[in-house]
Amino acid sequence: SMGKGLKVMISGAPASGKGTQCELITTKYDLVHIAAGDLLRAEIAAGSQSGKQAKEYMEKGQLVPDEIVVTMVKNRLSQPDSAEKGWLLDGYPRSSSQATALQAYGFKPDIFILLEVPQDILVDRVVGRRLDPVTGRIYHMTYSPPETEEIAARLTQRFDDTEEKVKLRLQTHNQNVESVLSLFEDITVKVDGSLSKEDVFATIDSALSDLIKQKNASLGMA
Ligand code: AP5
Repeated sequence: SMGKGLKVMISGAPASGKGTQCELITTKYDLVHIAAGDLLRAEIAAGSQSGKQAKEYMEKGQLVPDEIVVTMVKNRLSQPDSAEKGWLLDGYPRSSSQATALQAYGFKPDIFILLEVPQDILVDRVVGRRLDPVTGRIYHMTYSPPETEEIAARLTQRFDDTEEKVKLRLQTHNQNVESVLSLFEDITVKVDGSLSKEDVFATIDSALSDLIKQKNASLGMA
């Protein structure tokens, strides 16, 4: 496929559009999408011990401890499909300790995408967000409404998607973002995430295709 072996990290505040862009990126580049938040919600749904512990932190908008998150992400990255197709890591690392832990296991990204969105827009996006439990697709009651009545009727809301909770999640993000960014400065691409999802994707798409061209050129395949 086009993106073969590409290693991508995508980061940004809560509701900056990480999941939405990951849907568009995986459709075109066929990378393995690994979302830390989705892995944690799967643990909660499975009723595991780590899921129970994680939920306490998620309800407070705080980072789930490294003992849980690092192993979970490392295990998913270690599956054969991730090495074969390449990966798109969403919502990880959120601290310098998470970043260095992953490096120690030998996982190093080619590019670090940062979605930048002003805070007032973020609250609006969180409150209107809905999820389709059947397809896993992300909707917004205003900006990306469901296509049919049938889909509309089955949409669900995340337990941490209230105005109060998103403010806590934002605080956590603001406390940690600089320390993570400073570790990836040389490969960071900052993207204006306040534009339409198509326009945001156009910027990411061109950054990824440039990267593929560079990689091919350095392999003598250009
Ligand atoms: P996580 O699930 O990762 O949540 P988050 O970071 O708060 O990000 P979101 O999933 O809320 O937003 P998104 O950026 O994916 O936006 P989306 O595309 O859906 O984490 C949840 C919790 O788990 C954390 O609080 C923490 O406790 C824990 N956790 C996770 N990772 C961890 C880690 N590494 N370490 C420790 N703890 C961790 O878009 C949002 C809405 O906006 C949607 O409705 C969408 O339709 C709409 N939208 C998107 N793009 C646009 C656009 N361009 N224009 C208009 N609307 C748009």
